[in-house]
Amino acid sequence: MKPWWWFTATSFLFLMGGLGLSVRAADPDLRTSREVFERRCSGCHAPDINKGGPRLRGVLSRKAGTVEGFPYSDALRKSGISWDEKRLNQWIENPDSIVTDNDMEFRVSNPDERAAIIAYLKSLGK
Ligand code: HEC
Repeated sequence: MKPWWWFTATSFLFLMGGLGLSVRAADPDLRTSREVFERRCSGCHAPDINKGGPRLRGVLSRKAGTVEGFPYSDALRKSGISWDEKRLNQWIENPDSIVTDNDMEFRVSNPDERAAIIAYLKSLGK
């Protein structure tokens, strides 16, 4: 025979487990997206400050090379492109494929990682 508190304790643990799961399930993709961004991009980029690369909040609705105060390459500044998901995906895969002579020396070859990063940038809003 189990002691009376066994049921309380197990249902409590069960409940906490369920809560933990639902908290994690709230937005698991977004959390990992941020992790991917931080692992791959944050050495040079942040949402709101210029680092080695320009700040990226709102990038999906702006023209390339237009963050004030960032010393872009002439190539990117004059590229005339606007960032959307497709362009961003190409850029992260291989920046030279859309703007030759740009200054970003970085590539992400894994399509899942690129998708996660783009989802994260979208989630930042403007
Ligand atoms: C080694 C440093 C470095 C890393 C890592 C890096 N970038 Fe960049 N990024 C730059 C530089 C430098 C530029 C400016 C390029 C130019 O002026 O030609 C840039 C430009 C950009 C731009 C164009 C922004 C604009 O205002 O037009 C985007 C978008 C971008 N990076 C996204 C990313 C993402 C997403 C990652 C992660 C996958 C990443 N970068 C990783 C250095 C980096």
